[in-house]
Amino acid sequence: MDQDYEQFIKNIKSKTGIDLSLYKEAQMKRRLTSLYEKRGFSNFTEFYSGLNKQRELYYEFLDRMTINVSEFYRNYKRWEVLEEKILPSLLERNSNLKVWSAACSTGEEPYTIAMILSKLMPMSKVKVLATDIDDNVIARAKLGLYPERSLNEVPDDMKKKYLKKEGTNYKVSDEIMKTVTFKKQNLLSDPFDSQFDLIVCRNVLIYFTEEAKEVLYSKFSGALKRQGVFFVGSTEQIFNAERFDLSSVDTFFYQKR
Ligand SMILES: C[S@@+](CC[C@H](N)C(=O)[O-])C[C@H]1O[C@@H](n2cnc3c(N)ncnc32)[C@H](O)[C@@H]1O
Repeated sequence: MDQDYEQFIKNIKSKTGIDLSLYKEAQMKRRLTSLYEKRGFSNFTEFYSGLNKQRELYYEFLDRMTINVSEFYRNYKRWEVLEEKILPSLLERNSNLKVWSAACSTGEEPYTIAMILSKLMPMSKVKVLATDIDDNVIARAKLGLYPERSLNEVPDDMKKKYLKKEGTNYKVSDEIMKTVTFKKQNLLSDPFDSQFDLIVCRNVLIYFTEEAKEVLYSKFSGALKRQGVFFVGSTEQIFNAERFDLSSVDTFFYQKR
């Protein structure tokens, strides 16, 4: 790793607690370099001193490093498997499910989970924990307001029931919003809660180094109940899941043994 980036990583870690060395280097560097070049800096050292002087630039950096894209029912087919196969079998064992959407971004994912759970249990029992490292996305998630393009995959009945048009946006209904609790959490450094029946962590592990991923798989496995299920993103198969006491129950779903 070159010295300019290495020093930047150290500085950011002491400023924010975020350890960029656990994110894939080439990808992260490319994203940050294109940002600093656009803002007129020529290396990471200059960029870091800019970040300390301009608050806006600091927020822009955080935004660029976290990549917040999300949508409701992202990869629709997988959510069908969750609804028709995974959740019914979890509910056979336990009628109160402890559910976590990890790296939830702007909230589309935990709200999708809540909509699906509402079909399978009384709304009063639906509860979802949703966490992300980025305050900004959590604040947006709590507003529950989305442009039409994030709703492309929402089934019509769910859309009618739980999403109301407001101007050019759609607002998630209060009853769904009430079921989700948002919290700030850095997956790479903060402790995990435990005894989850279902953990959904999608489209964030791809940004981490292999070493960081391995640590996280162990932590996620440790946070699951026996027979609890870990649901990952559609490019994120776990190689040799058995090493983490997990076994594949369907594509992108792993069960704690
Ligand atoms: C591409 S979004 C994925 C959103 C959603 N899970 C989905 O699949 O649509 C990635 C999210 O991971 C979050 N993130 C990145 N690093 C993180 C970390 N160390 N701890 C917690 N969240 C993190 C980002 O803030 C961003 O909101």
